[in-house]
Amino acid sequence: MVPLLWGCSDADVTADTSYTMEQPANFPKATYTLENNPVTKEGFELGRMLFYDTRLSGDSTISCSTCHIQQAAFADPAHRVNHGVANRLGTRNTPALTNVAFRSSFFWDGGSNHLDFVPVNALTSHVEMDNTMEEVVRRLNDLPEYQKRFKNAFNKEEIDSQQLLHALSQFMVMFVSANAKYDKVIRGEGEQFSAEELAGYDLFIAKCSSCHATDLFTDGSYRNNGLDTDFKKDSGRSRITELSDDLGKFKVPSLRNVALTPPYMHDGRFQTLEQVLTHYARQVKDSPTVDPALRSGDSLGIPITDDERLKIIAFIKTLTDDEFGRDKRFADPF
Ligand code: HEC
Ligand code: HEC
Repeated sequence: MVPLLWGCSDADVTADTSYTMEQPANFPKATYTLENNPVTKEGFELGRMLFYDTRLSGDSTISCSTCHIQQAAFADPAHRVNHGVANRLGTRNTPALTNVAFRSSFFWDGGSNHLDFVPVNALTSHVEMDNTMEEVVRRLNDLPEYQKRFKNAFNKEEIDSQQLLHALSQFMVMFVSANAKYDKVIRGEGEQFSAEELAGYDLFIAKCSSCHATDLFTDGSYRNNGLDTDFKKDSGRSRITELSDDLGKFKVPSLRNVALTPPYMHDGRFQTLEQVLTHYARQVKDSPTVDPALRSGDSLGIPITDDERLKIIAFIKTLTDDEFGRDKRFADPF
């Protein structure tokens, strides 16, 4: 496979802010420490190539982009759970990668707290890319194209795993998605909600925003939203903390672009937003760690009528940022 250079001429990209990470006015402050790994054109384009390169996996069939698909906000709409080397299946749904520079922890259970280390997991996981860091680095050092690109980006003689991880982070921190209809309404950029969306917004604030908070639509906490009565299949946050209080708690996911990223929940059990809303309205299951926000007296769940369900979904669709999925900077360079 001979990697081709991306099509657009340098004149298209150098004079503008294509390689400056954006801090949208309505977002909390970014968590990624850019001072330790500033984004450069060379580093970003290298990260992009790595992200789309199947040679990073053990048998050279799987790249990051096999599971993280740009048109789906870098989630995987085709598979319920991670689907990697040799058709092996994992246990968790592939999350969207929008606004990763604003997240303070990663994975459904918060098992990683720095973006730079996250790819190690995918690269070395038996079910995902089934490689070793030594082997990935060895392969890259053998490829003249990468020797040249790493040298240009980091100015070191030999490629090492830190440069690899820094390049991937430089690519991913640029995944800022802040141009949905919602943003344009909130920032007063000339768009208006329809009557249905506005009603949905009010319902969302009242019923959902205690967890799906801020303009990232997550408070970053771990909660049990009542999917199961026992947690033998996946104990969630308690895998990391070993606390029984954390059994069945999972990270509150951002809802940005969520209309593009079915299936839903940590195990991809729901296919549609209708099913998600029906879960909250009628199917919340009891267990010792179920979130207090989902309990009132003896009853469980969030009261939502069928009409309210439609309005909430209309609002959620205003969180879809079509420009993000089409942004050429993030497309396959090969
Ligand atoms: C086989 C599918 C698959 C491949 C290949 C894959 N990922 Fe993932 N990725 C996942 C799944 C599933 C998770 C969630 C894992 C968990 O929560 O335990 C995830 C989580 C992540 C996250 C954390 C998102 C968050 O906020 O929780 C990042 C960042 C990420 N992957 C980047 C990458 C990069 C970079 C590569 C390539 C080196 C890659 N992934 C390859 C499936 C995949
Ligand atoms: C008590 C906190 C809490 C409340 C209240 C809450 N959620 Fe959630 N939500 C979560 C958690 C935690 C998850 C992930 C659970 C898992 O996968 O195990 C989630 C998952 C979701 C998902 C799936 C996202 C994905 O990428 O898979 C959607 C959609 C969603 N919630 C919408 C809503 C809506 C709409 C409301 C209001 C009717 C709401 N939530 C209320 C905590 C909450």
